[in-house]
Amino acid sequence: MSSILYPGSFDPVTNGHLDVAFRAARIFDKVIIAVAVNSEKKPLFSFDERIELLKHACRDHKNIEITSFQGLLVNAVNEFKTDAVLRGLRAVSDFEYEFQMALMNRQLNDKCETIFLMPSPEYSYVSSRLIKEIAFCGGDISEFVPDFVTGAIKAKREKGSVL
Ligand code: PNS
Repeated sequence: MSSILYPGSFDPVTNGHLDVAFRAARIFDKVIIAVAVNSEKKPLFSFDERIELLKHACRDHKNIEITSFQGLLVNAVNEFKTDAVLRGLRAVSDFEYEFQMALMNRQLNDKCETIFLMPSPEYSYVSSRLIKEIAFCGGDISEFVPDFVTGAIKAKREKGSVL
């Protein structure tokens, strides 16, 4: 059975992330989406909140599992016994960071291969960071995230959370 691990901050999940995950779910027997720590980001949503949003978004996809991990991605690949890591590549601007991360992960564990999928072009400029910024400034994000994600960001804003 083929499986792939899709790690990320998912703070929060966007339609771009989902587009990549659903594409992978058509290729692999199992897709494990794992919320992970990016030490360069300060998340708006807790691990549990991000997991809940992902679970709701993927509820109709029986071969997608949602989980999280702490520590190194290469260890998670071993722990979850997956064949490879999945990352979305939106534009050339993503490439340098992704290339560096993929090669570093393979240096740490030579079995850790990274597979890239491109989302539909309509999502090539969608990022969680921009979504949060637009929503916190009162803009409309409804075409970029599921409805319940819009609601969850709105609730954070009303509670006085800051970006
Ligand atoms: O969605 P993001 O923020 O681009 O995802 C980045 C993430 C979480 C996949 C990356 O920061 C990561 O792998 N974190 C786990 C710790 C780790 O292994 N860091 C070394 C990467 S070379």
